[in-house]
Amino acid sequence: MTRTPNPDRRQQLVAIDGPVASGKTAVGRALAQRLGWKLFDTGIMYRAATWQALRKGVHLDEEDSVADLIRESKFQLSPQPGTDSVEMDVFVDGDDATPHLRRPEVESGVPTVAAIAGVRVLMVQIQQEQAAQGCMIVVGRDIGTVVLPDAPVKMFLDASEEVRARRRAAEQNGGADEASVLRATRRRDARDRGREASPLTVAADAIRLDTSELTLEEAIDAAETIVRERIPETAEEEATRTTQSR
Ligand code: CDP
Repeated sequence: MTRTPNPDRRQQLVAIDGPVASGKTAVGRALAQRLGWKLFDTGIMYRAATWQALRKGVHLDEEDSVADLIRESKFQLSPQPGTDSVEMDVFVDGDDATPHLRRPEVESGVPTVAAIAGVRVLMVQIQQEQAAQGCMIVVGRDIGTVVLPDAPVKMFLDASEEVRARRRAAEQNGGADEASVLRATRRRDARDRGREASPLTVAADAIRLDTSELTLEEAIDAAETIVRERIPETAEEEATRTTQSR
């Protein structure tokens, strides 16, 4: 049976926002795999912008200089190599920024760069162009509110501070000290929520999913149900797959 192509792929977009380590990237990645879509984690762009400013020696507190640098820099997103990957790599002026995005100096500098309105305008424009391809899970802080206000599905993932810090500590190689991760998590969250330019807030029409008590698998299942209920094409695909596998 041939699948009827969706007349408007642009309508096939899911916006996922949430604080540090709320599960949005892990859930977004798995959702993209299940739906055969791409994952666009917009955090990589703010991290790449931070890396660019650091390597060019621009002081992160000099807002105008950072915004000027980012305006002059060329950001490119390209599908990650590997047939199974749903993720994207980010290049700045032709250099792959991906291996540098989790460096401690990027981790601590990114909320400063992400709070610069002149940087956000440029990033949002690239993100909207990228998302126009459709069939994409777009993850970030302002996706449902600013980047894709018309997305057919918006989710806001959350979890208690302690759970989020525990997850982030476990992710770090060899395990990190939970108390210091909790402090760092709180600091970044406070800056993301408190900034003037596009603070982290829940879109009025977003579905909230608290993952504190859920395993990753349960969170993914819950998110998948939400998407399939709201984007009819994905429900039809699922029905076709189930029928075919019988
Ligand atoms: O994975 P994690 O939640 O730790 O961070 P991330 O999604 O990679 O985002 C890193 C930082 O970029 C956030 O703390 C925000 O300051 C900023 N960001 C943003 O302002 N807007 C977005 N759409 C995505 C990220």
